[in-house]
Amino acid sequence: MANVTRHINATAGGSAYEILIGGGILREAFLRKELSPFERIAVIAGSRVYELHRAYIEEALDVIRGRCRLIFFDDSEENKSYAYAGRFLEKFIEYGLNRKSAVIGIGGGVVGDFTGYCAGLFMRGIPVIHVPTTLLAMVDSSIGGKAAVNLSVGKNIAGVFRQPRMVVSDTLFLGTLPDGELRNGLTEALKHGLIGEPTTLGILQGNSMETIRREEVINRLVALSASFKAGIVEKDERESGLRAILNFGHTVGHAIESFMEYRGISHGGAVAAGIRVKMEAMRRMGLVSDGDAVRVGSLIDRYGLAERTPGLDIDGVIDHMAYDKKNFGGAVNFVLLDGLGKPKINQQIPADLLKEVMSETLT
Ligand SMILES: NC(=O)c1ccc[n+]([C@@H]2O[C@H](COP(=O)([O-])OP(=O)(O)OC[C@H]3O[C@@H](n4cnc5c(N)ncnc54)[C@H](O)[C@@H]3O)[C@@H](O)[C@H]2O)c1
Repeated sequence: MANVTRHINATAGGSAYEILIGGGILREAFLRKELSPFERIAVIAGSRVYELHRAYIEEALDVIRGRCRLIFFDDSEENKSYAYAGRFLEKFIEYGLNRKSAVIGIGGGVVGDFTGYCAGLFMRGIPVIHVPTTLLAMVDSSIGGKAAVNLSVGKNIAGVFRQPRMVVSDTLFLGTLPDGELRNGLTEALKHGLIGEPTTLGILQGNSMETIRREEVINRLVALSASFKAGIVEKDERESGLRAILNFGHTVGHAIESFMEYRGISHGGAVAAGIRVKMEAMRRMGLVSDGDAVRVGSLIDRYGLAERTPGLDIDGVIDHMAYDKKNFGGAVNFVLLDGLGKPKINQQIPADLLKEVMSETLT
């Protein structure tokens, strides 16, 4: 395969699968043996990405044309729901899918989560192939097997673990991804860099928003980040310990997002703000050096990853974080670093320090 420039062998939940990375690899990927056993394949395509890449997707689908059925998914967070999934499961029956069928999801994390969830439920589980089309989906959500949909009471509450049969990260799709969406993925790549994939930090440091999209650069970043996450999941698929390090920056980030009711701030912007809070708190606690804190802060600035929220009610966010955690039966614990690349779970930040740093960095 000429265009597959990176090829990662991943294992999770006792089964092995491949992550293919490269620009323009979709058709080649659909010709692979992984798809040959399936008599019928439902292809769930995000409407936006299909609209932008129609001819390219259709050309790739030609190789499975006789046995695939394309289903469009208006990929909003509202539609990533339990109720909507029920409708798709009924469509699967209508289209003649059975236990020898598979589902392919083409889109961002919303499509991937939705597709994985439907595949995990249909006839007690049929194979899923992910074709992530956002950077976040390539470096994060398509890897790891978590697939959840939203209930009216909260996000990602109804879920399954469904490891993919194959992941096809075709970076050609990123050509149409808006910068804001790209930043969401860069934040996750930065997070991987901080918790144990140092080469990622070097790539971010050696590039800028202008150069990071270059094919060779982005392919390398996706490969390193995806491979790092796959390695963590291989050791701890169900998050009984190690996998929790992937939540670095997310406790504060989620609290900001949910306090703001998911309006006026992006997921990546909130997580990057959470990383900034953590770095500064860890610097003051003597866990990371001044130099490392400055280096990470300037990366966040260079790519414009973190969003400030003037007037944000810090006490409100902190109460929210505590309330959220207690709901899940625990104290407010964080992933902290004992030096770059050395994460530790279940750590505390003194309450006064947390409030001080949040006030200084978030508003
Ligand atoms: N399962 C997991 O482990 C995991 C991890 C992180 C996030 N998630 C989930 O992922 C979702 C977020 O994913 P996301 O950041 O990819 O957002 P998304 O799926 O909402 O995509 C963002 C936007 O980009 C559009 N888009 C997708 N590909 C495009 C392309 N190539 N060109 C132009 N536009 C494109 C989409 O239509 C959408 O409007 C959330 O629902 C989150 O809960 C899951």
